[in-house]
Amino acid sequence: MDTDRLHEILAAHAGCKGALLPILHDIQHAFGCIDAVAEAAVAKVLNLSRAEVHGVVSFYHDFTPEADPRPCIELCRAEACQARGVEALVPAATAAAGERVRIKPVYCLGLCSVGPVARHGELLHARLDEAALVKLVQTA
Ligand code: FES
Repeated sequence: MDTDRLHEILAAHAGCKGALLPILHDIQHAFGCIDAVAEAAVAKVLNLSRAEVHGVVSFYHDFTPEADPRPCIELCRAEACQARGVEALVPAATAAAGERVRIKPVYCLGLCSVGPVARHGELLHARLDEAALVKLVQTA
């Protein structure tokens, strides 16, 4: 982990109330993970225990202890997308992904009326059928 970059992130939030989650999101975005070194640095800056920081990191699925360099497709598995058939798409998406692409379940991407929905990077893909989702996975 680039400690200079880590300290830049911490300094950017200095003095801000409720800075824990914004700091953790920035670290996750910058490094693709929040490791023990980062947890310790965050704890020190915010005057928290490492256990408190680790508790937050381990609670939220968006935070990961190790970077995963694979492309990631976030596939909504929440109720509205379930009602619109997402579960029937999962086996084909998983087969297309193999070990090359990570299919990450998420729980609502905010486009419930046009599900099933997936996100790749900053782009949302709605009204997915099996062919569209497999193509999205294959081109990720
Ligand atoms: S339930 Fe899937 S986008 Fe909201």
